[in-house]
Amino acid sequence: MFEDISHSGDGGIYGELLVNRAFQGSGATIGSLPGVPGGSVVSSENPIVPFGPVITGWKPIGDVFIHLTQLHPLSDALPIVLQLDIPFNATGEVGILNEGWWGIDVRPQTYGASFYCLSNGPRNNGSLSGINVSLRSNLTGETWVTSKIPTTNVSSFQYEHFETQLVNQAMAPDSNNTFAITFDASEVAGNTFYFGLTSLFGETYKDTRIRKDLGETIVDLGSRFFRFPGGNNLEGYSIEQRWKWNETIGPLINRKGRVGDWGYYNTNGLGLMEFLNFCEAGSLQPILGVYAGFSLDIFGQEGTSFSEDQMNLILEDILNEIEFITGDTSTTWGAKRAEYGHPEPYELNFIELGNEDWFSSTYPYRFPILYQGIKQVYPNLTLISTAFDENDDYNISIPAGGLWDKHDYQTPSFFLENFDFYDNWQETTDNEGVKIFIGESSVFQYDTPSGVVNYSNPIGIHIPYPNLVSALGESVYLLGAERNPTVVDFIAYAPSFANLNWENWTPNLVSFTANRNETVKSSSYYMEQLFAHFHGAETLPVTTVSGNFNPLWWAASVDDGDTAMYFKVVNTGNSSIPLTINTDRALTAANGTIITAPSLSSFNYINNQTAVAPSPITNLPSPSGQAFNWDVPAWSINVLQFSLG
Ligand code: AHR
Repeated sequence: MFEDISHSGDGGIYGELLVNRAFQGSGATIGSLPGVPGGSVVSSENPIVPFGPVITGWKPIGDVFIHLTQLHPLSDALPIVLQLDIPFNATGEVGILNEGWWGIDVRPQTYGASFYCLSNGPRNNGSLSGINVSLRSNLTGETWVTSKIPTTNVSSFQYEHFETQLVNQAMAPDSNNTFAITFDASEVAGNTFYFGLTSLFGETYKDTRIRKDLGETIVDLGSRFFRFPGGNNLEGYSIEQRWKWNETIGPLINRKGRVGDWGYYNTNGLGLMEFLNFCEAGSLQPILGVYAGFSLDIFGQEGTSFSEDQMNLILEDILNEIEFITGDTSTTWGAKRAEYGHPEPYELNFIELGNEDWFSSTYPYRFPILYQGIKQVYPNLTLISTAFDENDDYNISIPAGGLWDKHDYQTPSFFLENFDFYDNWQETTDNEGVKIFIGESSVFQYDTPSGVVNYSNPIGIHIPYPNLVSALGESVYLLGAERNPTVVDFIAYAPSFANLNWENWTPNLVSFTANRNETVKSSSYYMEQLFAHFHGAETLPVTTVSGNFNPLWWAASVDDGDTAMYFKVVNTGNSSIPLTINTDRALTAANGTIITAPSLSSFNYINNQTAVAPSPITNLPSPSGQAFNWDVPAWSINVLQFSLG
């Protein structure tokens, strides 16, 4: 599950390396103000307009002056540019630098750099020898790589788009690096330049716009689907600030961005096609969240809904979005997609109607209008409800063939107690034909006597980084889902990513910084990866003849060719437990992988990235005929893999 939270989009999986690249907007801190209900903007980078443009991340080089101006707009969408004034008496190197998203990773690879530039005509005398673009250390000033863009002049009539490649061989010792655009003062003293929409990309995942290592992290997890763009970030602070799909497509110069839901401006560079291209490249089924007529407003305050008679506007918008994704090029929106570089329709099978709409009182009319309206045009799409019985005042009636997206930010005990939640869910709730998407789940805090989860994250009970307890609890819940493949179709951890420099939420599946070496896969990541890797094609019936679930938990499956059996077994107890497996097939060989750690609170961090990680089980006994005996170690998550005779 992905949304731009904790700078996991801009400054995260979106491969753009420059912060504040187009001066679109700033960040603000949301908190409570005395006497004001809910959350408010309590401080802002821009002291006058919360979320307004700022010059953050940019610095002058040499004796020059920089500021933002609207007098020379780059485009309607990007009216703010950076003005660089170079005095008549300037000498040496002059220009601007960008500090990146809390640094820039510099290692041997080719970077693509670009920017728009305009000059003030009168003093531009055509004497330029070129514009220098470089990556350099922020500590020592050392230049890692430089490229001179050959131009004798910068137009004073219209913005020019300059592009270059930085073929870098250097390995910087850290990510405290900058990107610089510079001139020789002797050629430009007395000039003014305006810069807009600057950009720097390093290697990306299979030529998408996704940061390569983070894209690989998603795919290597064993992910089969990708839910986007949210989460709260789909809904918007207000109806106006919602994620508008049609403002996230087309040339970047036309994408004005929006105030995201997590306290910072979203550039919209990571738009609908960037998501879909990544799904294609990574063989992931897109689960597209569409705006369903409800915005959360500022956290904690009453949200705003479209009224029943306005829902046709929302339906029309969704149908256009689907046409953009799947329509052929004879359709209005399919033609637009082709114009933007993807003539072939994208594969799209799943649509989620909103996000956590049980927060609203209006889903009972919004959901059926959208469900029926979409089904009439696209009967083969599977539609997902974001609510069922969470709101005390209503249940949503989900038609057969639909899914319920259930969210669980919970305690370890909750996940153990709900191991059997899915066992007879369809029958007991009269929902035969409805399946479940556990769209967001994670162990959020330790158990407390009351069992109540406190979302203000009190120190001592909140879990900031997934640890062994997290992985144990979540793995039991996953086993409960695996035992019920006719009920649970998908399960996802949330949130998936957090930039360690701006954490809106903890715990997160993967944390990262600008420095590729500091990407940390959590204990939960490794557990999910293990389970995804040994994902059988068919769940096997299991009869328990002695003992019962808790503290040992298990599920069994066979692979597609019926040649291997996977036996997943978790021990949540503090001592080893003997296990005997009897089957009706000859077991010819056994391998195993275990995740455990010395302490329940062991967790992975930058300087200890594999404290809780999988390793092969050593000394695993051989099966004897159709039976297998083993002592399951305390606090461990295991997958045993048997060859079937
Ligand atoms: O994952 C963080 C948030 O938790 C999501 O935006 C929202 O869907 C849920 O409440």
